[in-house]
Amino acid sequence: MKMRKKMSLGLFIQLPGQHLASWRHPSSQSHRNYDLDYLIEIAQTAERGKFDMLFIADSVARPVHEHSYSELKLDPLMIMATLTGATKKIGLTVTASTTYNEPFHIARKFGALDHLSKGRAGWNVVTSANDLEATVYGKEKHLSHAERYERAEEFVDVVKKFWFSIEGDAVIANKETGQFLDISKVHPVKHEGKWFRVSGLLDSPAPPQGHPVIVQAGSSEAGKELAARTAEVVFTACQSLKHAQAFYEDLKSRLAKYNRDRDDVKIMPGVYITVGKTEEEARKKREALNKWIMPGAGLLFLSEFTQIDFRGFHPDDPFPDYDTYADPTNPRIRYKIICDIAKREGLKTLRDIYERISSARGHWEVTGTPGQIVDQLEEWFVNGGADGFNVIPPTFPEDLNLIVDEVIPELQRRGLFREEYEGDTLRSHLGLKTPENPNAKKREQLAAYPNS
Ligand SMILES: Cc1cc2nc3c(=O)[nH]c(=O)nc-3n(C[C@H](O)[C@H](O)[C@H](O)COP(=O)(O)O)c2cc1C
Repeated sequence: MKMRKKMSLGLFIQLPGQHLASWRHPSSQSHRNYDLDYLIEIAQTAERGKFDMLFIADSVARPVHEHSYSELKLDPLMIMATLTGATKKIGLTVTASTTYNEPFHIARKFGALDHLSKGRAGWNVVTSANDLEATVYGKEKHLSHAERYERAEEFVDVVKKFWFSIEGDAVIANKETGQFLDISKVHPVKHEGKWFRVSGLLDSPAPPQGHPVIVQAGSSEAGKELAARTAEVVFTACQSLKHAQAFYEDLKSRLAKYNRDRDDVKIMPGVYITVGKTEEEARKKREALNKWIMPGAGLLFLSEFTQIDFRGFHPDDPFPDYDTYADPTNPRIRYKIICDIAKREGLKTLRDIYERISSARGHWEVTGTPGQIVDQLEEWFVNGGADGFNVIPPTFPEDLNLIVDEVIPELQRRGLFREEYEGDTLRSHLGLKTPENPNAKKREQLAAYPNS
């Protein structure tokens, strides 16, 4: 049988589960959210499923509510650093903001994560959509969408300059001669831009992968341009194959202008998977979680997701259309996604909406038997809708176990997903090139043509 192109799979870890009320599910282990042994169990289950990577999102300063788990969590970078020792192959991708960090912070932490994991680190570059984040960082106000992306463009470049500042094989450590470093492979950064004026070196050699895999999840014009120029994986939230194909083609068609090939970027829409022995059982499981949503938690979630404050409303109040709150300075992509869902599915009230989105949060949903689920994943994969998926289990650990034990074997049986890891690094799993160190290239050219 001709080897079929294999899809890439990420596991979106959101404890106790992606569904807003997942913590109330009988099988949910919500009390173990901050327990390392539990995190290791989940990571090792995903590695047993041969996932390309684990992914943990991050945003802070989320409002809390007595009836909601409110995304209370540990610093995801600390979690991933700890999981380097409990896993061998699976990639470790985590979010960090370009708005509330300095480039050196990110270069150092993700460089270290790549060394400690022997080349399995990924950085999800976000500009922090949640404007409340400004408060915990002591900022007067959150930067505008446009400013955030302008800063992010320069930020990513400066981080790379730090990663390339000491070549991977610069450390000689020759005890005989006493030479520790090949100083010709050390390239101090000197950067002067609108947002950053930095100089110096990263205090560790280049990360094993050349640099960690760059991931992004922007869907605005500015977001897609940054992704086309710098991202190697793009997460996105699409509702239909048509929408996914449009996003896929839009993003891939921007690459050429940055001298990049279509295969240099993997597009991975999120997919919320509810598995059942029968389709009916799966549908019932999906609906069952909604009954545990408390109205206050539902309205708070809707407010955060749309960046419109619905907390004072009644759940049976009508859901306003997009124009009611349209704001040219803030495209509110996720509010637009919900308005499209409401129109398409005839949803009228705030309760209708928060029950509809508290599961997949704007991502694609597939519900059914393992065979039915793989049919749909295959359809998007072979029809130019995705290079793979960011898998979102409604609850942990039960739904993750079902996906690893029921859905993945069906993908493997059809030759759509790996049976064994091909290599040891995240780049090898995703089939991504190793980035060239521009400093090394210049040094070699100078060595080859000293008079040029
Ligand atoms: C799969 C996925 C994961 C995301 N993870 C985060 C995250 O961890 N932190 C965050 O602040 N935003 C996250 N976002 C939001 C995006 O970074 C981005 O702000 C959003 O898609 C709106 O696009 P725009 O920034 O281009 O307007 C995520 C979006 C998607 C689709």
